[in-house]
Amino acid sequence: MKRVSTSPTPSSASSLFSRRVSRRDFLRGLGTTAISAATLGAQGVASELAQANAEKVHGPGAVPVTLSVNGERRTFTIEPRVTLLEALRMNAGLTGAKEACDRATCGACTVLLDGDPVYACSVLAIEAQGAEIETIEGLTKSGELTRLQHAFIDKDGLQCGFCTPGFVLTLTALLRKNPHPTEAEIRRASAGNLCRCGSQPRIIAAALAAGGTETAAKATVIHFHDHALA
Ligand code: FES
Ligand code: FES
Repeated sequence: MKRVSTSPTPSSASSLFSRRVSRRDFLRGLGTTAISAATLGAQGVASELAQANAEKVHGPGAVPVTLSVNGERRTFTIEPRVTLLEALRMNAGLTGAKEACDRATCGACTVLLDGDPVYACSVLAIEAQGAEIETIEGLTKSGELTRLQHAFIDKDGLQCGFCTPGFVLTLTALLRKNPHPTEAEIRRASAGNLCRCGSQPRIIAAALAAGGTETAAKATVIHFHDHALA
């Protein structure tokens, strides 16, 4: 293999240094560099401040916020501190996204923002302006359940259902990008969603089924008449 360059040894480096640059030159150069860096830093801060001052201040009172939700543009008069989840549930009347932890840990509030899952409890409604927002209600606008929703029913992928809209949206985003995901890909994609009822294995089975992969049943339903005490 051709050697492109070699690293100088410490002694060769110091002799090179003493031949070409005196200590005074070196220190003077350092000082100049530090002053240039400080000047550039100060200019950067000043220009950021000027930009911040020029920006329009929103709030603290209510302001008009226009959101594009499930293909419809809707304007609400809300305070800038209102989260996307609150705006969807309280202002748009779309209660499919659920509030559970309200601190970006469970995924019950998941909606799609330009096709990607986000925690709606941790995004301000005002920040979501200009993006395409999709909620669970948007998936069934045609009146039909999606293939994934049917799979949730077939695989018994829910108990209380509180986590379900978030899971469905997260996995919908995955299946749109990757129509035949592996179990590992499903687990990775839905790692930000938690099911407190213990339906997670059946949720994964549902996503696999929606992608065309059938799995062995993890649990058998015991019918009452088969039970020893019946
Ligand atoms: S309610 Fe938003 S992540 Fe839990
Ligand atoms: S079905 Fe109850 S939290 Fe998932």
